[in-house]
Amino acid sequence: MKIHDMTIKEGHEFKIRIKPKENCDSFAINIGHDPENIAMHFNPRFDAGGDTNTIVFNSLSGGSWGDEHREGNFPFVRGEECKFHVNFNMDQFYIKLPDGSMLNFPNRLGDVKYKYFDVSGDARIIGIKVK
Ligand code: GAL
Repeated sequence: MKIHDMTIKEGHEFKIRIKPKENCDSFAINIGHDPENIAMHFNPRFDAGGDTNTIVFNSLSGGSWGDEHREGNFPFVRGEECKFHVNFNMDQFYIKLPDGSMLNFPNRLGDVKYKYFDVSGDARIIGIKVK
């Protein structure tokens, strides 16, 4: 589901509330310029692509995936609403997970403004706030 009219700028903080479905295999939050150029693909996988309870990060440039980052901490539960925060600068994305722990992922596209925001997979958006 693409969120329209959403511009994400350096220094803004996004609060995202999401509810993974009861049968969720994975969901993803994508922030970038368009579907072929994604600066941050944040992809919690309950059970998908051979991964169990793993967060996969990647970027997509001109339609080609970069190197994946994997994180073992997995504070998500199927069917339970959760909240996380995202902010970024030209170097990094910073993500605060539902358990309060922090992750970061390099801003490989290096831009300070993104207009494409998309949530895909087996989850429902409850709300998004920008500060
Ligand atoms: C692929 C998957 C994509 C994306 C990518 C990240 O295997 O099909 O949806 O998650 O990994 O590297």
